Amino acid sequence: MSDPAPTEGLSTLLHEQRTFPPSAEFTAQANGQAELFEQAEADRLGFWADQARRYVQWEQDFSEVLDWSDAPFAKWFVGGTLNACVNAVDRHVEAGNGDRVAIHWVGEPEGDTRDITYAELHQEVQKAANALADLGVGKGDTVAIYLPMIPEAAIAMLACARLGAPHSVVFGGFSAEALHSRIDDAGSKVVITSDGGYRRGKPSALKPAVDAALNHDDNPVEHVLVVQRTGQDVDWTEGRDVWWHDAVGQAADTHEAEAFDAEHPLFILYTSGTTGKPKGIMHTTGGYLVQTAFTNHVVHDVHPDSDVYWCTADIGWVTGHSYIVYGPMTLGATQVMYEGTPDTPHQGRFWEIVQDLKVTVLYTAPTAIRTFMKWGSDIPEKFDLSSLRVLGSVGEPINPEAWMWYRENIGGDSAPIVDTWWQTETGAIMISPLPGVTAARPGSAMRPIPGISAQVVDDMGEPVGNDSGGYLVLTEPWPSMLRGIWGDPQRYKDTYWSRFDGVYFAGDGAKLDEDGNIWVVGRVDDVMNVSGHRMSTSEIESALVSHPKVAEAAVVGAADDTTGQAICAFVILREDAVQEADEEGEGQDLVAELRNHVAKEIGPIAKPRQIMIVPELPKTRSGKIMRRLLKDVAENRTVGDVTTLADSSVMDLITQGLQGGGD
Ligand code: WTA
Repeated sequence: MSDPAPTEGLSTLLHEQRTFPPSAEFTAQANGQAELFEQAEADRLGFWADQARRYVQWEQDFSEVLDWSDAPFAKWFVGGTLNACVNAVDRHVEAGNGDRVAIHWVGEPEGDTRDITYAELHQEVQKAANALADLGVGKGDTVAIYLPMIPEAAIAMLACARLGAPHSVVFGGFSAEALHSRIDDAGSKVVITSDGGYRRGKPSALKPAVDAALNHDDNPVEHVLVVQRTGQDVDWTEGRDVWWHDAVGQAADTHEAEAFDAEHPLFILYTSGTTGKPKGIMHTTGGYLVQTAFTNHVVHDVHPDSDVYWCTADIGWVTGHSYIVYGPMTLGATQVMYEGTPDTPHQGRFWEIVQDLKVTVLYTAPTAIRTFMKWGSDIPEKFDLSSLRVLGSVGEPINPEAWMWYRENIGGDSAPIVDTWWQTETGAIMISPLPGVTAARPGSAMRPIPGISAQVVDDMGEPVGNDSGGYLVLTEPWPSMLRGIWGDPQRYKDTYWSRFDGVYFAGDGAKLDEDGNIWVVGRVDDVMNVSGHRMSTSEIESALVSHPKVAEAAVVGAADDTTGQAICAFVILREDAVQEADEEGEGQDLVAELRNHVAKEIGPIAKPRQIMIVPELPKTRSGKIMRRLLKDVAENRTVGDVTTLADSSVMDLITQGLQGGGD
């Protein structure tokens, strides 16, 4: 714990008094009713057993709801067997809904669209499963997926699930280096990628990063399955590389799916923690499917037979896993999937899509909402958004101004907003309004959903009262909880279960308002939240230090109006590099070089907004970097208390050196 809970500035937030109850009409049709809270309160495990039997089709029913005897390693729905792909696809066809559109896919180039029904999806996942099996993929093998937002991304994930092969999706914006370390850690046998995808109006290559990632002697990969999306040139390794359209195109279109244990691993997803090494968060099948489907039904209020749902997240993040693939598809919903950026070819692209496809439920991130705010309300005004009836937010705290803007300009001043708090680790939504029940307060995620127990506690683990702040913990296991960190059970215990006895520590600070509503304020550890993406300070520090000119680096997340936090790096150069930079003048070229270096090591999303070359870093007598002081500098504040510094003049050196300097 490097810093106390970041609760400063909260007092103003907590004076937010406005509440927005749903209309009677909305409540009447809502999937989630107030009784759910009572049922869960009366019998938590019985409640989850009911949801499990309601939302998921089991091949064999479970005999025990929860086995917590080996805590913190949970087993949910013990003895149950199921196939996640059958739940997400086959059963909707069997139920007679094969003609329903599963995915309205919208490519970034205008007019480039595909509608895929559940029947077509059924055929595609069977063919893809057969093709993967031909490449040697079977139960328990891990498959890396590195794809843009094209339907094949969902198809690939579902085909892996069908085979019992845990997928490890790596966000397409990560670099070859980041991909390499994830492939190695998971021991992936096959990588599924594409030649490229469209981004900001241009084809953007992906295959070269895979080639570079595999350019190591010890790589575990036997085959690379390549989707042709852009038609750009690719290098080809004979024997290893296989075109998707050849392998999947020629595969048989029936595949008998096996039912797996409820606790069979479904996927690994890497996320940043407090150390430089990303953690492979492991999720299993039964509980994950139950909670993602349940929450998509009662929180987003998705009605599969009438809604057009759109989650704008990338499939490379957990939001894409839970609320593009597994939740909505387990419900049999119709959804939109969009390949590109919100400003291509114009800043009204999202609203044009909402209008054209009559989107009813929209789930996006505060950083996007703040960007739309900045672009101006005259842009959404030009489109007919009257189809929208529920709005969602995820990924970071949404400030009341952005919440109000979202409601007024996108939601026609009537659509309920669900501000959903959850994490890669929790697998599904944990804290959120229920749109038909809760009178939402702008900026607050409100209360735990039915069946979930959360508390805000102080340093000693004691619950704080209303109107006070502390740490957010989850006090009971939940179905979609992570089951561990891939290959590192000890790190799982240490990271989440050691701070407070017997409860899960989320790493977030939170405050209760005078009515007991939860306001999640952000991370209290060395994890930054940049545009809703988790980045660890130490991961970026090690990327910087791996550059030959850098001696030492310290990274902080500074407040940023659009991205929530922005990455600011303080760098000490090696002796010879200092002289060189002096000769070149301001060292601007070097700053650019270092930013590109971070992009190469981790990915463009990790590029620091600002790199400041400094002569020293503020350290305590025990050598620990005082990030709090650097944050003051990055946020242009008067530098705080320096008395614990080993050398209190260091901050003067830093601030003087930066006057007129910086990036
Ligand atoms: C933050 C994304 C405030 C939080 C689903 C959490 C939020 C981290 C909210 C997880 C929210 C997510 N309000 N903060 N509604 N939702 N966060 O793993 O700091 O990418 O710990 O999962 O995002 O990020 P992750």
